Amino acid sequence: MLAPMPNQDAAKEEAGRQAATYVEDDMRVGLGTGSTVRWTITALGEMGLDIVCTATSVQTEVLAGSLGLHIVGPDELGALDIAIDGADEVDPQLNLTKGAGGAHTREKLVAEMAARFIVVVDESKLVPQLGPFGTPLEVLTFAPAVVANRVLALGAHEVVPRPGLSDNDNLLVDARFGPIADPAVLAAQLAAIPGIVEHGLFLADTVERVVIAGTDGVREIVRADLGP
Ligand code: 5RP
Repeated sequence: MLAPMPNQDAAKEEAGRQAATYVEDDMRVGLGTGSTVRWTITALGEMGLDIVCTATSVQTEVLAGSLGLHIVGPDELGALDIAIDGADEVDPQLNLTKGAGGAHTREKLVAEMAARFIVVVDESKLVPQLGPFGTPLEVLTFAPAVVANRVLALGAHEVVPRPGLSDNDNLLVDARFGPIADPAVLAAQLAAIPGIVEHGLFLADTVERVVIAGTDGVREIVRADLGP
């Protein structure tokens, strides 16, 4: 578990609100899940823009609806102008670990529908290498032990089940691989295991920028090949 930073809640609010400034009238917007993007959603509710949104979890749908945002299912939109979401780990290339909230399957689908995917974090989420947080996996209820053994065979030293089910009625587990040398290789290996509905590794090629709030204010890192 990463150490919480002082004023972490204030940092989350700053990052979340700054990301909302990327949203404009007439956009189709993907809304992530978690305590940081909650502030983006709150800001969007306050801004009163003419936008249509899709939500990555029941929790986000309820929050956004309570703030007066217009929410529809992904199929009604087909594609998104922008998606904004939090993350549990961000490495220097902008690869992400996501899924602490168990919403990473819908989050990945929504992120990949979007022309622009913007990530909001406090600086405690920045890591030199993905892995310390664990890798969330959404797994079919059909054969979780079979799946866990395949994940252990890939090099995980532990696969820890979570209580309850995801919004998609699947199991959630956390696989602990230690530091992940090559997130793209592990992502491909996990994707190839039948019974894993989705893993929480989001590769940098989907990420436009990360908005980071810390003790010195808010800064942004844009993916290297997209320029400053
Ligand atoms: C949920 C996620 C969240 O985006 C991630 O856990 C970050 O949440 P928070 O902003 O509360 O730290 O992936 O599945």
